Amino acid sequence: MQNIEFLGNDIFRIVSQVAKESGVRAYVIGGYVRDCFLGRHCKDIDIVVEGSGIEIAAKAAAKVGSKLSVFKRFGTAMFKYKGMEIEFVGARKESYRSDSRNPIVENGTLEDDQKRRDFTINALAFSLQEEDFGNLVDPFNGVKDLQAGLIRTPLDPDTTYSDDPLRMIRAIRFASQLSFTIVPESLASIARNKERLGILSRERISDELHKILLSPKPSVGFKLLEQTGLLPKILPQISNLKGVEMVDGKGHKDNFAHTLQVVDNVAEKSDNLWLRWAALLHDIGKPQTKRFEPSVGWTFHSHDYIGAKMVPGIFKQLKMPLNEKMKYVQKLVQLHLRPIALVQDEVTDSAIRRLLFDAGDDIDDLMTLCEADITSKNDKVVIKHKNNFALVKQKLVEVEEKDAIRNFKNPITGEMIMARYNIPPCREIGEIKEYIKNAILDGKIENDVNQAYALMEQKAAEIGLGDASL
Ligand code: CTP
Repeated sequence: MQNIEFLGNDIFRIVSQVAKESGVRAYVIGGYVRDCFLGRHCKDIDIVVEGSGIEIAAKAAAKVGSKLSVFKRFGTAMFKYKGMEIEFVGARKESYRSDSRNPIVENGTLEDDQKRRDFTINALAFSLQEEDFGNLVDPFNGVKDLQAGLIRTPLDPDTTYSDDPLRMIRAIRFASQLSFTIVPESLASIARNKERLGILSRERISDELHKILLSPKPSVGFKLLEQTGLLPKILPQISNLKGVEMVDGKGHKDNFAHTLQVVDNVAEKSDNLWLRWAALLHDIGKPQTKRFEPSVGWTFHSHDYIGAKMVPGIFKQLKMPLNEKMKYVQKLVQLHLRPIALVQDEVTDSAIRRLLFDAGDDIDDLMTLCEADITSKNDKVVIKHKNNFALVKQKLVEVEEKDAIRNFKNPITGEMIMARYNIPPCREIGEIKEYIKNAILDGKIENDVNQAYALMEQKAAEIGLGDASL
């Protein structure tokens, strides 16, 4: 029997049995089959039934004692079994309305269903019939495309993409995740159909962007998004980074190419999605702040500040969460120049303490971003900057060990000041605390409660509080 090694989970025999008893044919289809051939782990199983998917799902769920969830509107049902999600659908012949993603559904055969899927590599099926259990059904040569690393639609790409325009971004996402090539006619079709992105929900688009960012080399996906004209529709702020302007024979870096290099560099070091977002957005303030100053050349003053201000708008535009993830990205964009500025200036302890205080627990991610930001065509320049950067890193460790600033807590609390001077909450309390914080960060006193208490007394006297308790 073929492909039996991929069908070890006993759910496949159970579904086979149930389908037989019900007189219908069932197949495993889509991502699970694709990932078997790629040797990738896949935690979802899609089953397509020539008949009612919901009915077979209900019977199989009852057999294994799992709780069934039914989505009537979509004609699907799913349950969980041994840590996997098993989803059932009836084979369909679909046609879509041009203004909506929701298909008009008609029952069909396996082949009808395979035809309406996105890519040949996702249209592969294993039979679950007893007589040819595990048999591969591959009418569009999907396995050949898998071996050749090609993304190709089963039908004319214009038909497949207009059925569901999200597939245009999915094609790019798979190309990025798997290092595959989109066949030229498909790429041309994506460029032609880009206006159809407009009917998609922004959440579905950002889900795909997350997957592109999480791929091993995200630049592959972003270059394709730009090349096909999708990027200006999805993330114009990134598209705007493209290009090199020349004045007096002097050009600046192409900030699009630079940004993608930084994202790839970060991707090599960390699989934190939000750190990768920060890398993608770190220079978005540049187009707005670009100036040519004859004496110095191109400058992008305050692009860190302007860029950070743009982050919430971008998250909103993509319907991404406006929560602590957004704040984290914003903070990294805002601070991304700080460590490298320390390389250029003399590295004083107090500058290091200020950086630790501002970055808090995100200091390591900030350093990863900042190191990834060192790109140049000149290898010598990169090595020099990286060596200096290593010094800043070393200094960070030393200062952190000595002064414990990363999660700075003021050794003097508001309660301590109120009790000592017998005063209610008032502005002076904030003033004293700020004074103590700055004294610690500037290295005038250590991060120590006794030294801080003495300083509190001194400052309180200065602002006329010292006598109040006498
Ligand atoms: N599919 C499709 N068109 C879409 C989305 C999905 O034809 N717009 C089909 C494909 O056959 C796909 C299957 O539905 O393999 C399952 O979709 P999904 O779970 O979204 O994707 P996977 O291919 O499993 O890949 P991933 O889990 O990485 O998203």
